Amino acid sequence: MKDFIFEVDTKILFGEDQLKNLPSEIKKHGSRVLLCYGGGSIKKIGLYEDVIKLLEQNNIFYKELSGIEPNPRLESAVDGIKIVRENNIDFILAVGGGSVIDCAKLIAAGFYVDEDPWNIVTGKSRVEKALPIGTILTLAATGSEMDENSVITNLKTKQKLGWGSSKVLPKFSIMNPVYTYTVNAHHTASGVIDIMSHTMENYFSLNDGCYLVDRFSEGLLKTCVKYGPIALENPKDYDARANIMWANSWAINGLLSTGKSTDWSVHPMEHELSAFYDITHGIGLAILTPNWLKYVLNEHTARKISLFGKNVFELELSGDNFADANRAIDELRNFFNSLGVPSTLKEVGIGEEHLEEMAELTIKHKGRPIQGFAKLEAKDVLEIYKLSL
Ligand code: NZQ
Ligand code: ZN
Repeated sequence: MKDFIFEVDTKILFGEDQLKNLPSEIKKHGSRVLLCYGGGSIKKIGLYEDVIKLLEQNNIFYKELSGIEPNPRLESAVDGIKIVRENNIDFILAVGGGSVIDCAKLIAAGFYVDEDPWNIVTGKSRVEKALPIGTILTLAATGSEMDENSVITNLKTKQKLGWGSSKVLPKFSIMNPVYTYTVNAHHTASGVIDIMSHTMENYFSLNDGCYLVDRFSEGLLKTCVKYGPIALENPKDYDARANIMWANSWAINGLLSTGKSTDWSVHPMEHELSAFYDITHGIGLAILTPNWLKYVLNEHTARKISLFGKNVFELELSGDNFADANRAIDELRNFFNSLGVPSTLKEVGIGEEHLEEMAELTIKHKGRPIQGFAKLEAKDVLEIYKLSL
């Protein structure tokens, strides 16, 4: 196990009766708020009204940035920075899913740089400072409410890139599972898959002595396997929504990579799909992950994949690592299928036309081959895309 420092300084207020704490939490960090939200789901669930009421009752000044897109665009962050500058805003409140929170992070950091905020995303501008952020999470998927990451799409350059800084880690996140009751089947399923993918990106590593952390990962994966179908069957099952919501935070907040070298493999491949085709992130992951595992299955990786089958899907091992690993991958694919998501690129309108370009960009954006569970160069990424057609 490698040395590590684990620090996640986000206060979590979890449960049905936490919204009342919003004003006091905001006042610890600021007094003039930019309220960020998406296309209106928070109005449908009554959350918008409740938030506004609390801000007004507590004399907290606010301005709004609405309409933040799924796969958030650079332009929304630019609009947000403008509102912040014109109104002396000193606190960003993101109410929504990962897209709203990711956009809020770029606004918070972009306020302090004079140049185009895209330079932050590409790494050209260093993030030295950011405005404080708080979140109210309405969709369990990305873990953005408790991590340092943000993923932004630039339609002009056809790029969807991730960036991160400890400066944009949310100061607090209010997490009420009830807010996720209205998340539709498509986004519930893709959220569960995203959580599983974050976990697997950390879990599939070799010989690092991280026994404990791998058991944490299996616990998170089993939670998704148990409660994903229940949340789809009964969207108002509190325990299902609550367990998925809490798993979502821990899958990506750094715990699961403690002591390990992890180089994420499927996410960079998926980000090219959603950059080119604007598909839902979790759906891209569902299509790619089983094919990635099949592609990287070899004498080094077979044992770990078969253990995944045993410890997550409770498969009985035959002792033949290759056969067991193949069964584990099939089980994962069957599980994704049972959530009702597509399993091929063709089903989401992706053909052969850009596969080569996307494979090359995956590696170009990474700046080097992927060195995760198995080494992947552009030719390998292309093969995985082709297997996924
Ligand atoms: O825009 P509104 O009207 O709010 O509707 C949203 C949106 O259409 C809707 N929704 C959210 N909460 C709802 C709801 N509908 C009904 N009831 C509710 N309570 O769901 C739709 C999808 O929302 P979005 O925020 O886009 O989903 P998600 O949380 O999955 O975020 C996806 C984005 O996060 C990035 C993805 O690439 C994608 O751009 N990621 C961010 C990461 C991070 N920050 O650490 C890591 C991830 O791997 C991921 O790449
Ligand atoms: Zn993800």
